[in-house]
Amino acid sequence: MPDGAIARLDGVSLAFGERIVLRNCNLPIAEGAITCIVGLSGAGKSTILRLLDGLAKPDSGHAYVRDRDICHMPETELNTVRRSISLSFQFAALLDSLTLGDNVSLPLRENTNMSEGEIRKTVTEALDAVGLSSSYDNLPAELSGGMLKRAGFARAIVTRPDLVLYDEPTTGLDPISVHLITQMIMRLRERSNGTAVVTSHDLPSIYMMADYMAMLFEGAIIAYGPCADVRKSQNPIVQQFLAGSDVGPIPV
Ligand SMILES: Nc1ncnc2c1ncn2[C@@H]1O[C@H](COP(=O)(O)OP(=O)(O)OP(=O)(O)O)[C@@H](O)[C@H]1O
Ligand SMILES: [Mg+2]
Repeated sequence: MPDGAIARLDGVSLAFGERIVLRNCNLPIAEGAITCIVGLSGAGKSTILRLLDGLAKPDSGHAYVRDRDICHMPETELNTVRRSISLSFQFAALLDSLTLGDNVSLPLRENTNMSEGEIRKTVTEALDAVGLSSSYDNLPAELSGGMLKRAGFARAIVTRPDLVLYDEPTTGLDPISVHLITQMIMRLRERSNGTAVVTSHDLPSIYMMADYMAMLFEGAIIAYGPCADVRKSQNPIVQQFLAGSDVGPIPV
């Protein structure tokens, strides 16, 4: 694997039944950078995050984290690698019956030997980082959609992972919340060595936070590079997508 990539998809193909989602897909995840993945709804963005987290397996090709092929390793080893990665889901997947504090505590209880006192302190700090320190004892049902997203972030960063994967962190939020969440993702980088992957449909938010941008189309990464370069891409598919136009090579 080349220097500077913390993870990578290498020639990944994946189908669900008849539906081919990825075809020979290649994507490096640069360490210390935010990589944003864009693409049509159903293109396979969430699937890429699941592959990077070892939750999905390719039919062929490889997913590497550091220099290790996570598609072909024993479950116990995979679990060790997965502890260094956090996936923040598209739909906040908090347990309804647990308070926010207990939800955010879960990864620490599962993966560390911290004492109750240390857990309380670490969770309070993570909730503070997302502006929810006063909601430790609230149940998920008592929070707004934006607060739930932030709670999901707190759970993702509480273990200080090497890589955070955010699936559509701003979907369904008002424009001001989108802005605040985007800034929060940028601030939370300090907890993951600066490395994150974000899937999003929100171009202003992407342009604000992305160091690298990748566009997924018909199963392949058709554009990848520094965000400013991809924005200037001459590829008509990329141009049409970023312009949000119904005129061009993308079938509508
Ligand atoms: N576990 C699964 N079983 C069957 N089909 C699946 C499964 N996971 C994903 N798919 C299909 O794979 C395709 C890609 O799904 P994915 O969720 O990765 O897209 P996406 O780019 O994240 O879309 P969106 O922008 O709507 O979130 C879709 O057609 C979806 O129906
Ligand atoms: Mg998705």
